[in-house]
Amino acid sequence: MKFANQMSFFKFLVYVILILNCHVEARSNVHIVYMGERQHDDPNLTTDSHHDMLATVVGSKEMASDLMVYSYRHGFSGFAAKLTESQAQQIAELPGVVQVIPNSLHKLQTTRTWDFLGLSSHPTNNVLHKSKMGDGVIIGVLDSGIWPESKSFNEEGLGPVPSRWNGVCKSGDKFNATAHCNRKVIGARWYIDGFLAEYGKPFNTSEDEEYLSARDANGHGSHTASTISGSVVGNVSDRGLAPGTARGGAPHARLAIYKVCWSIFGGQCAGADILKAFDDAIHDGVDVLSLSIGSSIPLFSDVDQRDGIATGSFHAVARGIVVVCAASNDGPSAYSIQNTAPWILTVAASTIDRAFPTPITLGNNETLLGQAVFSGKEIGFTGLVYPEATGLDPNAAGMCHDLSLNNTNAAGKVVLCFNSLPQRAATIPALQVVRAAGGVGLIVAKNPVDILSPCGGDFPCIEVDYEIGTRILFYFRSTRSPLVKLSPSRTFVGKAVSPKVAYFSARGPNSIAPAILKPDITAPGVHILAASNDPSIDGGYVMRSGTSMSTPHISGIVALLKALHPNWSPAAVKSALITTAWQTAPSGLPLFAEGTPQKLANPFDFGGGFVNPNGAADPGLVYDMGTTDYIHYLCSMAYDNSAISHLTGHSIVCPSRKPSILDINLPSITIPSLRNSITVTRTVTNVGASTSSYKAVIEVPSGTNVSVKPDVLAFNFAVKKISFTVTISTTQKVNTGFYFGSLTWTNGVHAVRIPLSVRTEQSFAV
Ligand SMILES: *[C@@H]1O[C@H](CO)[C@@H](O)[C@H](O)[C@H]1NC(C)=O
Ligand SMILES: *[C@@H]1O[C@H](CO)[C@@H](O)[C@H](O)[C@H]1NC(C)=O
Ligand SMILES: *[C@@H]1O[C@H](CO)[C@@H](O)[C@H](O)[C@H]1NC(C)=O
Ligand SMILES: *[C@@H]1O[C@H](CO)[C@@H](O)[C@H](O)[C@H]1NC(C)=O
Ligand SMILES: *[C@@H]1O[C@H](CO)[C@@H](O)[C@H](O)[C@H]1NC(C)=O
Ligand SMILES: *[C@@H]1O[C@H](CO)[C@@H](O)[C@H](O)[C@H]1NC(C)=O
Ligand SMILES: *[C@@H]1O[C@H](CO)[C@@H](O)[C@H](O)[C@H]1NC(C)=O
Repeated sequence: MKFANQMSFFKFLVYVILILNCHVEARSNVHIVYMGERQHDDPNLTTDSHHDMLATVVGSKEMASDLMVYSYRHGFSGFAAKLTESQAQQIAELPGVVQVIPNSLHKLQTTRTWDFLGLSSHPTNNVLHKSKMGDGVIIGVLDSGIWPESKSFNEEGLGPVPSRWNGVCKSGDKFNATAHCNRKVIGARWYIDGFLAEYGKPFNTSEDEEYLSARDANGHGSHTASTISGSVVGNVSDRGLAPGTARGGAPHARLAIYKVCWSIFGGQCAGADILKAFDDAIHDGVDVLSLSIGSSIPLFSDVDQRDGIATGSFHAVARGIVVVCAASNDGPSAYSIQNTAPWILTVAASTIDRAFPTPITLGNNETLLGQAVFSGKEIGFTGLVYPEATGLDPNAAGMCHDLSLNNTNAAGKVVLCFNSLPQRAATIPALQVVRAAGGVGLIVAKNPVDILSPCGGDFPCIEVDYEIGTRILFYFRSTRSPLVKLSPSRTFVGKAVSPKVAYFSARGPNSIAPAILKPDITAPGVHILAASNDPSIDGGYVMRSGTSMSTPHISGIVALLKALHPNWSPAAVKSALITTAWQTAPSGLPLFAEGTPQKLANPFDFGGGFVNPNGAADPGLVYDMGTTDYIHYLCSMAYDNSAISHLTGHSIVCPSRKPSILDINLPSITIPSLRNSITVTRTVTNVGASTSSYKAVIEVPSGTNVSVKPDVLAFNFAVKKISFTVTISTTQKVNTGFYFGSLTWTNGVHAVRIPLSVRTEQSFAV
C-alpha cells in the first residue's frame, strides 16, 4: 500500500497509536460531558455541580476529583473526565447532560504580504494607521504556544495592558511569567490533559522535545502569533530569501496564548483541550480567536462536541468574539473544506506576487527557470542523471514516486525525475533516494508546479513544469555527457506574478451544508516569513506555507477592523471582508486557482475573493446576523430541539415546518439544487453615510435568470435596514455543475458584492 501523501501517513500513525491505546483492558478514556449554556453565574457553583454529578457515578468526591480533567464553566457548562465506557453511559443518562463524547484529536495545519494587501507603514492613510495598528484589541491564539524570546513578541512602543483583560500568564517549563509576558504577550496558558489521555503515557520532555508550558517546541504557534500581531522587526529573511521587515497584521494588538497543540506527529491538539481554551478565552476577554487547526473529513455536525471548534466557537461568537479558522490543507478536491459552521470565518490560502525563480543551466548553455526555495551554494556544472526504463519494468523509469537508482551512478550528480501524481509528497521519497545515493540535486518535473515544495533549504530540489522537464530530458538524451548547473533561488516580486489560490487550499462545497458557502475568504498563505521557535537558526525567521499561515493574516486584519468598529458583530466583520474582497490580481487579470487543471478561481476556492483590508474598513452595507439567525440555521439543519437548546442556553422549539437554509442572511447566495425557480430573502444594514441610495447590479450565472426586488435601496436617518428578495430561475433540465455570478449593491462609492452560486437539480424525469 502506498500513502497518497505525507499527511495521511501521519494520520495513519495517529490512528494506529489510538487503536493500540484503546485496546488496553477496560481503561478510562477522557470524555467530554457537555451540558450546554452554563446554569450558574458563579463559576464555582458550576464546578461544584460538576464534581457532584461525577461523584454520583464514580462513588465518591475524592474519586471524582482524581478523574476530573477540566470543568468548563465560563462560556458554557460541562466537564472532561476520565471515564470507562459504562460510566460514560451512566452520565449520559443524567438530567442536564446534552452529550458525552470521547475526546478527539485535531492537527495543526501547517513580508511582504502586508504591503501587498495595502497595509504598508507608508503612506499613512490606510486602515493600519486609522486603527492605531489594532491597539487595545486582544487576540487569543489557540496553537502550539510561542517562543517568548522572539523579537516579534517585544513590547516596544505599546501602552499598558487593556484594563478589561481578565486572563492570566502562567509560568511553567522554561516559561517565566514575569520575564516572558509583557505588554505584547498579555496571557499564556496551556492545556495538555486531554492530549495526554490520548497519548497514553506521561511526556518525557527531553525525548519528546516539548515544554510543559506555553513555550513553543514546534514553531507553528510562534509563526501564526507573529503573523497576527508581531512587533515590527527589521532586516529579517529566511537564509537570504524574502528579505525585508517582518511584522504582524495588527502590530499594536495584544496576544493571549492558549497552547492546545503538542509536538507529536507534527502537532496534535485534543478536542477537550480546545474546548477548555475556548472556555477560558471567553472568560479572559479576548476580542478575536485565531485557530490554524483542523480535523479531517468526514466532519462532525455543528452540535457535536467532538469537533470542539464548532461548539466552542458558537459560544464565543454569541459573545461577540470573532472566530477565525483555517480551511485546512486537503485541497484541491471539492468538498475538502473544514471548519464550516456559518458563525466561523473560514480562510483559504493563496500565493502572493512573489516567486522564487531558480536558474537551471544545461551543458549547452541554455538556462531554464524552475521554482525552488534553494538558498545554498551554486552547484557548478556536474553530471545530469535520468534513470531510463530498462527491460520491461516501467517502474525503473524516472518517475519520482518509484525512483530507484540501483543501476545508476548518481553520486555527485543531479537527478531528473517526472512526477505524475498531483501530490507534492511524491517528491519526498525521490529526495530520499537521491540523497542516499550521494546525489547533489534533484529536478522534479510535475504539473502543476507546486510552490509548496517539500524540499528547500540547502539541498537543491527544483520543480519545473512538464514542458521544461521534457526539454531537459531531450537535452539529456542528445548528448553523451549531459551536464547541468544549479544556481540559488532569487526573490522576485511585482505585478508580473499573479496570486493564485494555492493547490493545497481546501475547497467547497461545504459537505455539511452545501447552501452555506465555504471558504469565506482567501489571504496569503504560501512562503510566509514569520517567527520560528529557534532564534539560533537564521535569525529566528522562517518561511512556512498553509492555510495555517493565511488564517493569522485574516485574524490580524479582523483586529484592525475591531479597533475601528468595536461594535460590529462577528457577522458584520465577516460580511465587510467578503463583500469588499478583490476578484482580480493587481495586474487586473482574473484570479486563478491551482489544481489539475488550473482554472479561474470561483467561490468554492476563495469565497468572496482575495481579502482587501482597506475596503473592509468601509463596506457601506453589511449582511448582519446574530444568535437568532444561527438558531434559524440550526433549525433548518433539522438538528434536535434539545441539542439546539443546550447550545444556546434557553429552550428552543424549531417551527414544525423547518425554515429555509437559503434565507440565512449570509453575504452569499448558494443554491445547490435549483428546480424551476426559487426566491430567497436577504437584509442589509447601512454602516456608511446615513443618506444613501444603492442600485442592484447583477452578473447572472449562465443558464439562469435573476431578478432583485426592490432593485433600489434608499437609506436615511430613519431607515437603516432594508430587506430584499432575489428570484433565480432556470430552464435547464440537466445538472451540469455549479455556475457562478454575483449581486452587487452600488451607490457610486461602495460596491457591496456577494457571490451567487447555482446548480440545477438533477432531473430524473423520463
Ligand atoms: C472560587 O473559588 C476560588 C478558589 O477556591 C476562590 O479563590 C474564588 O474567590 C471563588 N470565587 C467565588 C466567586 O466565590
Ligand atoms: C523570572 O524572571 C524574573 C524577572 O526577570 C526574575 O527576577 C526571576 O528570578 C525569574 N524566576 C525564575 C524562576 O527564573
Ligand atoms: C527520558 O528520555 C531520556 C532520553 O531518551 C532518557 O534518558 C530518560 O531515561 C527518559 N526518562 C524517563 C522518565 O523515561
Ligand atoms: C542585516 O543583516 C545582515 C546579516 O545578518 C547584516 O550583514 C546587515 O548589516 C544587516 N543590515 C542592517 C541594516 O541591519
Ligand atoms: C558555454 O559558455 C561558455 C562561456 O561563455 C563557453 O566557454 C562555452 O563554450 C559554451 N558552451 C557551449 C556548448 O556553447
Ligand atoms: C534497489 O536496491 C535496494 C537495496 O539493495 C533493494 O531493496 C530494492 O529492492 C532495489 N530496487 C529495485 C527496483 O531493484
Ligand atoms: C429568462 O427570461 C427571458 C425573458 O424574461 C426568457 O426568454 C428566457 O427563456 C429566460 N431564461 C432562462 C434561462 O430562464
